[in-house]
Amino acid sequence: MKIAIVNGPNLNLLGKRETDVYGNKPFEEFFKELQEKYPSISLHYYQSNVEGELVNEIQRIGYDFDGIVLNPAAYTHTSVAIGDAIAAVKTPVIEVHISNVHAREEFRKLSHVSGKSVGSIIGLGLRGYELAIEWFLRQ
Ligand code: DQA
Repeated sequence: MKIAIVNGPNLNLLGKRETDVYGNKPFEEFFKELQEKYPSISLHYYQSNVEGELVNEIQRIGYDFDGIVLNPAAYTHTSVAIGDAIAAVKTPVIEVHISNVHAREEFRKLSHVSGKSVGSIIGLGLRGYELAIEWFLRQ
């Protein structure tokens, strides 16, 4: 089984960035824990701060992976292109947000990704990525 985690802008700063909202753990450390927990899954991780690079990656992995766990970060609220890329590819996508975007600023309530994804996991911290993997595992 091949599952990809794709993170958008500023998520490379997890552990340093607004720790009251996003926690203290760098994503690389969390990713290692996931690899140890799921040795039977081929887990792939990609992060970019650039919208077009995220589109390229979704296109690249969107035909032969079994699942994509996607946190497009701020592009969730602005990117028609990322929404279209999800709709274009064959691999199912689960949208994940670490924070509860519905309990924050108004602009975070709009998602161009939710309607194109099989589901969304919002506000459960880094656990959201793990829950998305569990869902793909049980398909
Ligand atoms: C986020 C929520 C977004 O609104 C924000 O721009 C992020 C992270 C989250 O994981 O909670 O960068 O996607």
